[in-house]
Amino acid sequence: MDKNVVVFGGSGFLGSHVCDKLMESGYNVTVFDKNESKFIKGKHNIVIGDILSEEKVGKAVENANIVFITVGTPSRRIEDEADLSAIWDVSHELAKNIKNYCVIVTKSTVPVGTTKKIKKIIETKISSENFGVVSNPEFLREGSAINDFMRPDRVVIGTESKKSEKLMRDLYRPLNLIETPIVSTTIETSEVIKYASNSFLATKIGFINQVADLCEAVGANVQDVAKGMGIDKRIGAKFLHAGPGFGGSCFPKDVKAFAATAKKFNINFSILDAVKSSNEKRPQMIVKKILDTKKFDSNSSIALLGLSFKPNTDDIRDSTSLKIASILQENNIKVNCYDPVAMVNAQQHNKTLNFFDSVYDACEGVNAIIIGTEWNEFRALNFTKIKEKIKDAIIFDLRNIYRPSELEELGFLYYGIGK
Ligand code: UDX
Repeated sequence: MDKNVVVFGGSGFLGSHVCDKLMESGYNVTVFDKNESKFIKGKHNIVIGDILSEEKVGKAVENANIVFITVGTPSRRIEDEADLSAIWDVSHELAKNIKNYCVIVTKSTVPVGTTKKIKKIIETKISSENFGVVSNPEFLREGSAINDFMRPDRVVIGTESKKSEKLMRDLYRPLNLIETPIVSTTIETSEVIKYASNSFLATKIGFINQVADLCEAVGANVQDVAKGMGIDKRIGAKFLHAGPGFGGSCFPKDVKAFAATAKKFNINFSILDAVKSSNEKRPQMIVKKILDTKKFDSNSSIALLGLSFKPNTDDIRDSTSLKIASILQENNIKVNCYDPVAMVNAQQHNKTLNFFDSVYDACEGVNAIIIGTEWNEFRALNFTKIKEKIKDAIIFDLRNIYRPSELEELGFLYYGIGK
C-alpha cells in the first residue's frame, strides 16, 4: 500500500512533530503551510507559501491516504471562540481535490462540531464513500514533545467510519509495542476529550494557586500540601505546582474556547469561568504582593529571570513573566531581564525592558530578583556572587525552586508562593 500523507499546517510546532513521526514510520510526507519554520527545514517535501497553490495541492491530495490538519486555531480577538478560518480554507481545498479514498484527520484543537463541519464542506463536492473524517487530538507539551509523541499516555481516535478507524489504527501500530491505550470513540466525544483534558489540567493549576494564597494567609506550605494531596492516586502529583499562573499557547486559549462552547449550548460551566478569571488576575495579584512589601519606589529596579511561559522553550505566548514585567513598569519600576533562550522574542514583545546577557549582569544594582520561569540554569545560582552585585538582597521565587532557609542563611529576604 502507498503511504502518502499530506499535512496542512505542518510547519508549526504541532505539525512539524507530526511530520517527523510520520517520516520515521516510513510515510512520504508533503507539507503545505503559509509560513516557513525553524522546525522543518530541509526535512520534508515542503510547499511553503499560499496553500491554495492549486496544482501542487491537487496532486498531493489525489495521492494521499491520510490528510492531517494541524493548522493554528488562535483565539478570536473579540469573542473567546477559536478562530477556525484556516481550517475552513483547507476544507475547501480538499473538497476540490480528493480523487481517491483518504482520511481527513483533525489534530488541531478544534471546538466540538468542527470535524463534522469539515465533512459537510467536503461532501458538497465529494461523495462520502470517497473519504472519512477523524478527530485525533494531540496532547504534546512544548519542551517535551518528542517524549510525549513517542510515549503518549493514550491515543484518541474519534470517527464513525470503520475504514478510517482501521487506517488510523495501522498508523499507530508501532505504539502497540509499548501498550499505549487507544480510545475509539465518536467524533464529538474525541473533540471534547481534548478540551476537557486541557481545561482540567488548567483547573488543577488554578486550584493549587488559590490553595497557595490560602496557605500564605494561614501559615501553611503549599508544596507540602501538594505533596500530601498528590500521593493520593485519585488526585495525582502532576500539575499541582503553584506559581504565577498558567500561560502558553494552549491552556489560556483552550479554557476560553471550552467556556465559549458551553455558553453557546447554554451550559453553566462556571468552574471554567472561575479558572479563567483567577488566572487572568494572577500577575496583577503577584505584583501587588511585591509592592505591598513597601520595599520599592519609583527609583527601584528589579531583575526578572525567565521570560518564556515555561522552561525549555523560547515561546513567550501568554507568558506570565512578561505580564508581570509590564505591570511593574506601569508602577514605575525598571525591569532588568534575562532568559536563556527567549530574549529575542521578548525584545520584540516589549522593547522598553532592559535586556542582559547573563543572570549576574541583570542583577547589577537592582533592588530585588524575581524568578519567573524555572529554567534549570536558575536552580543553582551563585548567590554569593549575586549578593555582591545587587543593592537589596530580596528574592521573589515565583516557582518555589529554593527553600526559604537556604536563602535566608545567605542574608536574603525570601518570598515564595504559598509558603
Ligand atoms: C499543554 C498540555 O500539557 C499539552 O497536553 C497540550 O497538548 C498543550 O498544552 P504546554 O502548553 O506545552 O502543554 O505546557 P504545560 O507544560 O502543560 O504548561 C502550561 C502552563 O502551565 C505553563 O505556563 C506552566 O508554567 C504552567 N504550569 C504547569 C503550572 O503553573 N503548574 C504546573 O503544575 C504545571
